[in-house]
Amino acid sequence: MHDFLANVLPDSQDAVLLPAFIGWSPNEGSGVFDPVAQLGKQFGFYDLKPDLTVDLDDLERRLASGGYRALVVIHYFGRTDPALSSISELAQRFGALLVEDLAHGFFSSVRGSQAGSYGQVRLYSLHKMFPFAEGGLVTYSSPALLGGQKSTKSELAVDVMSYNWDAISATRRANFEEITKRLAALPGLGRQFQLLWPELNAGDVPQTLPVRVLSNTRDEIYKKMNEEGFGMVSLYHTLIDHVRGDFGSMMDLSRHIINFPVHQDVQPDVLDSLVSSFQSHLKEEMV
Ligand SMILES: Cc1ncc(COP(=O)(O)O)c(C=O)c1O
Repeated sequence: MHDFLANVLPDSQDAVLLPAFIGWSPNEGSGVFDPVAQLGKQFGFYDLKPDLTVDLDDLERRLASGGYRALVVIHYFGRTDPALSSISELAQRFGALLVEDLAHGFFSSVRGSQAGSYGQVRLYSLHKMFPFAEGGLVTYSSPALLGGQKSTKSELAVDVMSYNWDAISATRRANFEEITKRLAALPGLGRQFQLLWPELNAGDVPQTLPVRVLSNTRDEIYKKMNEEGFGMVSLYHTLIDHVRGDFGSMMDLSRHIINFPVHQDVQPDVLDSLVSSFQSHLKEEMV
């Protein structure tokens, strides 16, 4: 993101429009927002629906109000935003470059979904998808967008190519489907928790499986399940300060979201105990 902004939109007046669900943590800061702030860019935010897909009406309003040069869309958890083609049309109409944040969507974009096929800029976070300590990737739709960008770790390309993308994608999808099936059979569905992503579309490969816990017990469930070794995450548990005032439903979601792991090292034989653990902690906390 930094490389793109610094080289393609170097003027600090070049404003960037971002979705309002952007996380922050004391260890990592904000991977999405920090480059925008570091480069002193003008910025604004648009609202999302409760399931984190784009609210097209709000997006259009914000684009119309602002002279934005870049529009960032995040395919949260690897789910291709269902309105991607309309988002792309809006970006074109208002003269903004479409930046697809595929930090969670590397496998969705390479395995047949539309994610990654509309943006002029596509950002990937390799260390989130592969067992790497670090690494990201940016691709551009046109050489006209290339200027001073530099490849810093080109050897990572060989590492990325050395994995079996089909096998990883199949494992992630199967884990997602199996966990969803088990969660959908729990009596607490709809009363104690909701599925944020109930249907996995054909081309999508999930990064995690997001759930909304309806009580105020998310942090406790997270803590207890991780003490048991289940590798849960909350993406995102804390939002950047800039969205705190204006985006109440996003703030609310950040207090309730919890994500199940579906990655390639999650073995099928732990899925029963993973979901049982969730159920038992849900119950405990509701008493
Ligand atoms: C949606 C999204 N985009 C970008 C990033 C930043 O990725 P990286 O850690 O590779 O800088 C993150 C990291 O949390 C993210 O969740």
